[in-house]
Amino acid sequence: MTKDSGFKHENLVSKRADARTFTHFSSSGTEGAPPGFKPHPKPLALHWGMPNAGFFPIDSIDVNLVEYPFQKSLSIPITNASVESFFPDEKSTTGKNTVTINKVDDSKYLDITTALQYGPVAGLSPLLQFTEDFITRVHKPAYEGWGTIITNGAGDGLNKVADALLDPGDVILLEEFTFVPFLKNIENSGGIPVPIKLNLDQESGKELGLDLDYLTNLLENWKTEKPGLPSPKALYVIPTGQNPTGTTQSVETRKKVYALAEKYDFAIIEDDPYGYLSLQPWQKPANTFKLNDFLEVDDYIANHITPSYLTIDTSGRVLRIETFSKLFAPGLRLGFIVAHKRFTKVIENYSNVVTRSSSGTSQLIVQNVIAKKFGGVDGWLQWILKMRVTYSHRRDLLLNQLFESEAYKKGYLGVIDPTAGMFASVFIKFPEGVDAQAKLQLLNFKFQNFGVGVVLGANMAVDRKFSEERATFYRLTFAPANNDQEIIEAGKRFVDAVEDFFAKGLEY
Ligand SMILES: Cc1ncc(COP(=O)(O)O)c(C=O)c1O
Repeated sequence: MTKDSGFKHENLVSKRADARTFTHFSSSGTEGAPPGFKPHPKPLALHWGMPNAGFFPIDSIDVNLVEYPFQKSLSIPITNASVESFFPDEKSTTGKNTVTINKVDDSKYLDITTALQYGPVAGLSPLLQFTEDFITRVHKPAYEGWGTIITNGAGDGLNKVADALLDPGDVILLEEFTFVPFLKNIENSGGIPVPIKLNLDQESGKELGLDLDYLTNLLENWKTEKPGLPSPKALYVIPTGQNPTGTTQSVETRKKVYALAEKYDFAIIEDDPYGYLSLQPWQKPANTFKLNDFLEVDDYIANHITPSYLTIDTSGRVLRIETFSKLFAPGLRLGFIVAHKRFTKVIENYSNVVTRSSSGTSQLIVQNVIAKKFGGVDGWLQWILKMRVTYSHRRDLLLNQLFESEAYKKGYLGVIDPTAGMFASVFIKFPEGVDAQAKLQLLNFKFQNFGVGVVLGANMAVDRKFSEERATFYRLTFAPANNDQEIIEAGKRFVDAVEDFFAKGLEY
């Protein structure tokens, strides 16, 4: 049973966001109308400065689609693959790989006339409807009164939630290694970031990722631990396939974190670009690719993705950031936020100032492809399942290179095998007494020399000093490689560079 929470978190809305109002200069309005005033039922427009769709040079758009990732460039054979079985005809309104977008369409599909016109700041309604249906199907919030708003991707969503929550001097907690561009949004809102320790010790026997004991203790003793700082207003987490560490919080941890949020009254910003890319357990890669090794949608939702904080949220304190960047394409600059409508309303007012509506072209393409080709939410999830299998295969390839290496066998490397997302963190195990940070910097030059790009964990620390001891890893990703051979070669270059570095006595 869900219950209507009303809105209990006025104190969490920033004063800046709350003070913002919006009235369009060309709205006619009825305020101050003389007695007997009666507006015409069908007024003609000489007020909106929008070009009629007849001026648009585009009449229709054909979007040609693939049936599965890398369809045109997969370099190893697919086993048991019957391409038709991936997309039974009834799931596609066209039964073909081409989706045609019309100048004028019925209300179910976005058309060119609507989407290429100035549009509502919160998003075009068929796409907004999809986001609501999607969240209802996959991560239904445990309260009523939630809504969604379209953004220009997660980066934009993050800026908007920072504005909605943080006044100058407000504290926000973050995982100590995180998506650091968000720090700039926090700075922009005048917030103060405070890092929370992560447990990255695979021998600890404790869940990897957010250190719950550390967080609990910090909150319990806030006044003595952080004298002079106000109690935190928000916690920012990347709970699944965390960037950069690749760790995933269990549901139990999420419930405990939420209980702390209730007790100490802070908002939870859940940034989850990787949440749907849960990976299959690691297996030694075969030289064929089992593309159709994928799950039923119901099984996937029930057993293979970790429920969002939204599903635990009974009081409307979770703001979830979604994006189409990792599942469709980053250049669309399209995503959405799910939160209590009190929050989505202030975010809409901010959008009116900073971005206005998101790209109509992006909304048009995403809505039409999902509705016409995939047939809605479940078909879209089937596409995601194909991505999941493809990412699992790539992770298997990269990690296999690491596990088989001399560097690994000699104990120079520690690998966090991700259960979701596109990142694996690889720790370098230095002998006692070595200045690890200096050596990691040096080793980074070796990677460049051997021809492989990686991210130094320390570069993603909220506070380098605070995280020095744990910043002994590199972030590797199996997302950008063009093909399997590139992943294998990149992994080989990585381990060769490490071996060479150790062979030279930790010198370049
Ligand atoms: C955790 C996290 N948040 C946000 C973003 C930004 O995503 P978008 O492309 O949707 O702006 C990324 C991109 O890498 C990310 O890893």
